[in-house]
Amino acid sequence: MSKKLFIETLGCAMNTRDSEHMIAQLKEREGYETTTNLKEADLILINTCSVREKPVQKLFSELGAFNKKKKEGAKIGVCGCTASHLGEEIIKRAPYVSFVLGARNVSKISEVLHKDKAVETDINYDESEFAFDDFRSSPYKAYINISIGCDKQCTFCIVPKTRGEEISIPDELIVQEAAKAVQNGAKEIFLLGQNVNNYGRRFSDATHEKVNFTELLRRLSKIEGLRRIRFTSPHPFHMDDEFIKEFAKNPKICKSMHMPLQSGSSKVLKDMKRGYTKEWFLNRVEKLRKECPEVSISTDIIVAFPGESEEDFEHTLDVMRKVKFDQIFSFKYSPRPHTEAEKLPMIDDALASARLTQLQSLQAEILDENAKKHQDKVYEVYFEELSRDNYVSGRTNTNLVVKVKGSEELLGEFRDVKITQIGRTICTGEIVA
Ligand code: 5AD
Ligand code: SF4
Repeated sequence: MSKKLFIETLGCAMNTRDSEHMIAQLKEREGYETTTNLKEADLILINTCSVREKPVQKLFSELGAFNKKKKEGAKIGVCGCTASHLGEEIIKRAPYVSFVLGARNVSKISEVLHKDKAVETDINYDESEFAFDDFRSSPYKAYINISIGCDKQCTFCIVPKTRGEEISIPDELIVQEAAKAVQNGAKEIFLLGQNVNNYGRRFSDATHEKVNFTELLRRLSKIEGLRRIRFTSPHPFHMDDEFIKEFAKNPKICKSMHMPLQSGSSKVLKDMKRGYTKEWFLNRVEKLRKECPEVSISTDIIVAFPGESEEDFEHTLDVMRKVKFDQIFSFKYSPRPHTEAEKLPMIDDALASARLTQLQSLQAEILDENAKKHQDKVYEVYFEELSRDNYVSGRTNTNLVVKVKGSEELLGEFRDVKITQIGRTICTGEIVA
């Protein structure tokens, strides 16, 4: 009988792909099968996120609960960004943990599995050319890493300390991986990196041909049978005209752009070391909308960064009113270890919460307004998931989630759908062709 692996994945899409990589190695080399039943697992992995403090606190309570529930002799491993930044402290606080594997050491999963109390968290480890075995949780959409690490120095962000310096994966390996995924039935690829449009700045092999993100997109879009290309996250600082033009005119690139604003105040952006101003951000949105009027734009915003005044916050609301984002991920600032902003005096928590609430209610109004434009429109939807009550859901090119009545036959298929009922996050529709 095969051994059973239970894996919990927190955090971003990069972690989702790292989990797929670990599952692949464990299946092919160690004979594991995945299970969703913790109690029958021989190996329990938690792939952690450390971007904010809350999930880190939760980790230890969760570890305790897993340890109580696990079957006799089962191993627990902690992986990902919190593993990178806490390292052996995790084993000190939770001695029943068998190993700790950092976000940049994913390829060593087999190794640590066989060494009791192994801690592999070297953030300089280069696995940009590692040939992982093949495993994908969805046959319809393929996540593909295009770089590891991050070279930016945003003063709030722990990621450069958990994922190390940025290295691009050679474009020929990316194209190869994408072509294989398409051959196996995926019609959409989702390119992943901390800062995708900085692609090509550094390869492991310094003599590698200089290929930038725009060129990578061109090369990938030549793959026959590939219908959609998505990516996350681009950085507003690197959104040059060449990139925006390629985005607008390349029919395989999905017309949804994630543009992490973080703050609308040029002063706060400077304190965050984001490298752009409010004006630059608005200018890029304007350019993007001019070249590609149908584009949907999503963003990340942090409220109550140290020193954020009422006026600074007002600038953020102003950008929101001007841009009318299609989706916002908003967070209260959370001080992170080893970051430049860590020691700065915090804004009163009640005020921070009030700002977050104000921002989110403004966004709710904007979403209600935005959603109206979808009523009775017909969009092409790529179906990827079964939902409750005999619905199947998928996304439009602009990343709008749409569900229709239907079953498995629709999975992996494109259909024209008329929107019959609008919602802030999901619309309902009927297939028309
Ligand atoms: N506090 C709050 N939010 C943060 N993010 C990153 N670091 C922090 C932090 N210290 C947010 C940013 C980023 C998203 C992934 O998480 O908005 O874009
Ligand atoms: Fe979390 Fe950032 Fe690590 Fe992703 S890269 S898992 S968001 S800390």
